[in-house]
Amino acid sequence: MPLFISFEGPDGSGKSTQARLLAAALMQRGFAVCETREPGGTAIGEKIRELLLAPDSPPATPLTMALLLSASRSQLVADVIRPALQSGQIVVADRFADSTLAYQAFGLGLHASVVEELTAIATGGTQPDVSIYVDIEPAAGLERVSMRGSRNRMDAQTLQFHRHVREGYLEIITQAPQRWICVDGAAPVEAVHDAIVRRLEPVLSNVGDPA
Ligand code: TYD
Repeated sequence: MPLFISFEGPDGSGKSTQARLLAAALMQRGFAVCETREPGGTAIGEKIRELLLAPDSPPATPLTMALLLSASRSQLVADVIRPALQSGQIVVADRFADSTLAYQAFGLGLHASVVEELTAIATGGTQPDVSIYVDIEPAAGLERVSMRGSRNRMDAQTLQFHRHVREGYLEIITQAPQRWICVDGAAPVEAVHDAIVRRLEPVLSNVGDPA
C-alpha cells in the first residue's frame, strides 16, 4: 500500500536530516521509497527553488511566492509523487503544502484561503497521509542555520517572522491533529529519529510487508 509522509518544521529544526534518516531506515527494511524536497524535486522545480531562495533574488510578494511554490508543487506531484504512490512506494517529502501555509500565510500575511485554493489546484487533492513536525524554538533554529553558514532568503527573515511561522505550524496541527506526529528537534538526532520510527510503527504495519 502506498504511503505519503511529509516532514515540516521551522528553519534549523533538523527536518531534512530526519527525512533522510527515515528514508534510509525504510529502505533498510525493504520498502520502496521515493525521496523528494520542496521547493524543487523536478528540473523546473529546482529552477523555481533557485529563483525563490537565492539571497540576491528580486523581491516578490507573498502571493508571487505562493504561485511559484505551487507551480513547483504541481510539477512535483505530476512527475514524481503521484507516479510513486501509484506504484506502491512510500514517498518521503522534505516539506509540502503546509510549508506554504506556515511561511506565506502565517509568516507573511497571505490569506490562508488563497493558499488552500492554490494547493488544491496544484496537488489535485494529493496530500500527505502522515506529516512529521520537527519543532524548534525559532532562536535556536536560526542559530543552527547561521552555524551552517548558508542563509537563504527565507531564513534571513526576522526572528519575529520565524515566530509567526512556528505559531502557524502549531495552529495547523491543532486543526487536524490525527495527521501529525510531533517531535522535539532540540533533542539529539538519533533520539529524534527513534521517536519518529516508534510513532510511525502502527502506520507502517498497515502499509503491509515490504515488497
Ligand atoms: P528548506 O529546504 O527546508 O531549507 P534549507 O535548504 O535551508 O534546509 O526550505 C527552503 C526554504 O523555503 C525554507 O526557508 C522555507 C521556505 N519555504 C517557504 O517559504 N514556503 C514553502 O511552501 C516551502 C516549500 C518552503
